[in-house]
Amino acid sequence: MPQSETRHPSGRDVFKGNIRLAPSILSADFSRLRNQIAGLELAGARQLHLDVMDGHFVKNLTFGPLVVEAIRRTTRLPLDVHLQIENADRWIDAFCKAGADMIAVHSETLQHVDRTIQAIRDNGKKAGVALSPSTPIRAMEELLPNVDYVIVMSVYPGFPGQDFIPGSLARLEQLRVMVSRNGLPVEIEIDGGINIGNVRDVVTAGADVVIAGSAIFNADDPAEYLRAILDEMLQAETTGA
Ligand code: DX5
Ligand code: ZN
Repeated sequence: MPQSETRHPSGRDVFKGNIRLAPSILSADFSRLRNQIAGLELAGARQLHLDVMDGHFVKNLTFGPLVVEAIRRTTRLPLDVHLQIENADRWIDAFCKAGADMIAVHSETLQHVDRTIQAIRDNGKKAGVALSPSTPIRAMEELLPNVDYVIVMSVYPGFPGQDFIPGSLARLEQLRVMVSRNGLPVEIEIDGGINIGNVRDVVTAGADVVIAGSAIFNADDPAEYLRAILDEMLQAETTGA
């Protein structure tokens, strides 16, 4: 990855082209998932975001390891599995075997989140923590040295197509400062309500990975829309605005 000379206003080193766009497949057409994923990969998607929901931790119910395993066979993109379920610790091995490259769990629902993170890492996968909008960022202070990434949720977990919560920008900045101050190699993802109109703001506030679902899949031409978001991201990364 070529290293840029740019330094982000927040103090982080910016690696040109290192910020990534990760489509969230929750809004995809599952009957033609392979084609949709291939099209988005060609257009510049660098990671896929898979939302696993159990109808308990969140009201919605989606899919489990079987579908992750099927998606694994359609693409070589890194699979980021976002577990919005209770008892996530019982499912780590299954999702690792299914082909997840990264797994994020919600600290709000785990008694010993540090142990779950370790279990993910013991499987050789990247471990993340996802924070619901009402969870204080400072809850990450102690965990931060032990995680590979944090997902800042900019909607309440459960459903695609919700509006971005504006206060999420300040939360992103707060986390970016915490990561930079401690010199940690932790990546920051933003998840929920992202579209062409607000993507610059989230990159400027410190996101390394932008997750977007309904904006991409509901577009007339998802690949073209993805390329347009990507352009905005790269400009924000380069100019810092
Ligand atoms: C919400 C999920 C998000 C969602 C994003 O619980 O975690 O990943 O799929 O979808 P959009 O981009 O439609 O908000
Ligand atoms: Zn998600």
